[in-house]
Amino acid sequence: MTPTLPIYMDNASTTRTDPRVVEKMLPYFSEIYGNSASRNHSFGWESEGAVDVARRQAADLIGSGPKEIIWTSGATESNNLAIKGAARMYAKAPSGNAGRGHVITAIHEHKAVIDPCKRLEREGFEVTWLEPGPDGIITRAMVEDAMREDTILVSIMWANNELGTINEVPAIGELCHDRGAIMHTDATQWVGKMPTNVDTDNIDLLSFSAHKIYGPNGVGALYVRRRRPRVRLEAMLDGGGHERGMRSGTLNVAGVVGMGAACELCSEEMDAEGQRLYALRTQLERSLVDSMDVVQINGNIELRLPHITNISFGFVEGESLMMGIKDIACSSGSACTSASLEPSYVLKALGVGDELAHSSLRLSLGRWTTAEEVDYASEKIRAAVEHLRAMSPLYDLHNEGIDISAIEWDAH
Ligand SMILES: Cc1ncc(COP(=O)(O)O)c(C=O)c1O
Repeated sequence: MTPTLPIYMDNASTTRTDPRVVEKMLPYFSEIYGNSASRNHSFGWESEGAVDVARRQAADLIGSGPKEIIWTSGATESNNLAIKGAARMYAKAPSGNAGRGHVITAIHEHKAVIDPCKRLEREGFEVTWLEPGPDGIITRAMVEDAMREDTILVSIMWANNELGTINEVPAIGELCHDRGAIMHTDATQWVGKMPTNVDTDNIDLLSFSAHKIYGPNGVGALYVRRRRPRVRLEAMLDGGGHERGMRSGTLNVAGVVGMGAACELCSEEMDAEGQRLYALRTQLERSLVDSMDVVQINGNIELRLPHITNISFGFVEGESLMMGIKDIACSSGSACTSASLEPSYVLKALGVGDELAHSSLRLSLGRWTTAEEVDYASEKIRAAVEHLRAMSPLYDLHNEGIDISAIEWDAH
């Protein structure tokens, strides 16, 4: 049976807001509309009560206290606040002097971590950019080699958004605590999918976002540890001093209620959902990898989130492949820059060549993905790859046993 088209397999980009979440949000637009910071009337109290419930729901999902949740506009803001806020607060010397402090991160983090770290470099901080091995994983040993006396902050994402690969975050957090550094993790792809406990996992700052966990766009949170150690941040926004002074601005109450409801659903359904998606992803990967040659799954095969796969198909041209599977919404291994298509910097970091990176797909399954959709998608992708290879002289050479990489092409 053909499923309804187009098929959505881009859940790592954003998820559909769960209708149960939308239902919880609706009263907070025009029925319960007080400013949650209005302390002197019942309209305000009612909204504040709803925000408190959401704070508890978000905290329960990550094992923190409710007061440790700071609401933001999403993971981009959470990462900026965590990274710039911590580095500037704990800077060793005033701006302009050498040695303001040291930060450790990795080259294949999300841009919402990379760019704040680059800004810190411009402000005089030193940043060590760790490089992963071919499996994409950042290990405790890699961070340990980079640690210095003046390391203020380590920012390593829990799970990579393009690959789904899982870094050794609890072990890296333990190392940070031994060495007196602050551990931040961008857990945008991890939280709500995998069990999380900021205490036993040794996290001081953790970013997450509602729209990756079936909540609304434009709302997120930053966990900020309150004790052992108490972490302080320099605020980015000056204003009314909301959110313990770390993030001024009237709260998006409906959004916050939605994020809370989304967190609660994840707490209840995450285990079963993860198992279901793991089975579907296995079905998808098996049908692609078993039926074709020169296909590779990128990143560590074991240490991965259950719902993401990143697959490269040799001997096909990336853009043509995307054109051939138009009714499957997924991401490609190319990013549009103003002038050209750039191969994914994440895949490049793993040593995947430009050609193969361009012909890669990230397929990310979600709450409403069905077995029929997986069958349809794998069939469609296989047909597109086979069609393109049938027109590829290079694929013919490969089939004749000729090593393409050894050919010396005429440079005219
Ligand atoms: C790992 C990671 N970090 C940060 C972000 C940015 O999140 P937001 O869209 O909530 O700002 C994303 C979203 O693509 C992500 O996948």
